[in-house]
Amino acid sequence: MKVTVVGAGNVGATCADVIAHKELANELVLVDIKENFSEGKALDIWQTSPINMYDTRIKGSTNDYSKTANSEVVVITSGLPRKPGMSRDDLISTNAGIVKSVTENIIRYSPNAKIIVVSNPLDVMTYCAYLTSKVDSKRVFGMAGILDTARYKAFLAEALDCSPKDIQAVLMGGHGDTMVPLPRYTTVGGIPVTELIAKDKLDAIIDRTKKGGGEIVNLLGTSAWYAPGAAAAQMVESIVRDQKRIFPVCAWLQGEYGMKDVYLGVPVKLGKNGIEQIIELKLNEEEKALLNSSAKAVKEVMAVLDNMNSAAVSK
Ligand code: NAI
Ligand code: 2OP
Repeated sequence: MKVTVVGAGNVGATCADVIAHKELANELVLVDIKENFSEGKALDIWQTSPINMYDTRIKGSTNDYSKTANSEVVVITSGLPRKPGMSRDDLISTNAGIVKSVTENIIRYSPNAKIIVVSNPLDVMTYCAYLTSKVDSKRVFGMAGILDTARYKAFLAEALDCSPKDIQAVLMGGHGDTMVPLPRYTTVGGIPVTELIAKDKLDAIIDRTKKGGGEIVNLLGTSAWYAPGAAAAQMVESIVRDQKRIFPVCAWLQGEYGMKDVYLGVPVKLGKNGIEQIIELKLNEEEKALLNSSAKAVKEVMAVLDNMNSAAVSK
C-alpha cells in the first residue's frame, strides 16, 4: 500500500507523520516543489520510526512524480496558507494553478488513486482537482468537515468539562463562515447536547467553530496544521483500511439535498472505493436554509474558478 502527500509544509508534514505513526501504508511519499524540502522532512519523520515503533518507509521527492506511481491515496496540501486579514477565498488564483498542476501529475502516475484535497479555498480546490483529474467524483473529495467538527467537539468538551471522545456531531456546508453545525445531530454520551448546555452557550460555540480557522490564523500568523493534518490522515485511514467510517466530507452533489454540480460538506461513508455513500439527513426548514446559503457562497467562488478557466481557454 502506497500513499502520497503533496506539499511538505505544515499540514502535509503533519499528515505524513500521523500516517507513518499509524502505519497506514508500507510506503509513504512526500512531494514538494521546494528543492530538498520534502527529502529533509521525510528523513526527519523516518528517524522517529525507532522511537514511535513503526515501519512505514517514508521518502521525499522534489517534484518527481514518478516516485509516487501507483499510490492508492494522494493527499494534496500544496498551496499558500492564509495570513491574517486573508479569507480562504483570497487564495484562489495561486492555489488553483498549484492544485491543477499537482493533480495532472498525480493522475499521470496514479490513475486509480483516491484524491483528498486540503488546499484552500477547500470546496473550490476540490472542484479544481475534480475538473483536472476527469475521474469519478467518488474518488475526488475534500477534507474540512472532520476538522470543523473536531473544533466544535473540542469547544463543547471544554464547556461541558467532559471527554471529547463522548461527543458525536455532524457539520455540513462549505469550509468557511457559512458552515452549518447541527446541534440537532449532536450528542454527548448518547444524550442530546441541548439537554446539557444552555442555548446561548451553544450558540457561542457554534459561532466560535465557524470562525475557528481565523482564530488560529490570528494567534499564529498562519493557519492551523496539527488538527488539519490529523483529520486528513483519518480520511486516509478509513480508505486504506476500508473502515467505511461516516464523516462530513466535501463531496460532489448530483441531486442530493436538492443540489446539483456543487462541492459541499455532507456526511459520507468512506471506504476503499472512496465515497461509497452520500448520506441524506432529513433537515428541517431552518437547517435547509442555512445549507442552501452555504452552497450559494461556495458556488460563487466556483464561478470565479470557471471564469478563470474560460479566460485561459479563450486566450
Ligand atoms: P505551508 O506553506 O506550510 O505548506 C505548503 C507547501 O506547499 C509548501 O512547502 C510549498 O513549497 C508547497 N508547494 C507549493 N506549490 C507546490 C507545488 N506546485 N507542488 C508541490 N508543492 C508545492 O502551508 P500549510 O499550512 O501546510 O497549508 C497548506 C494548504 O492547506 C493551504 O492552502 C491552507 O490554506 C490549507 N489548509 C486547509 C485546511 C482545511 O481544512 N481544508 C486546514 C489548514 C490548511
Ligand atoms: C483552517 O480552517 C485555514 O482552512 C484553514 O484552519
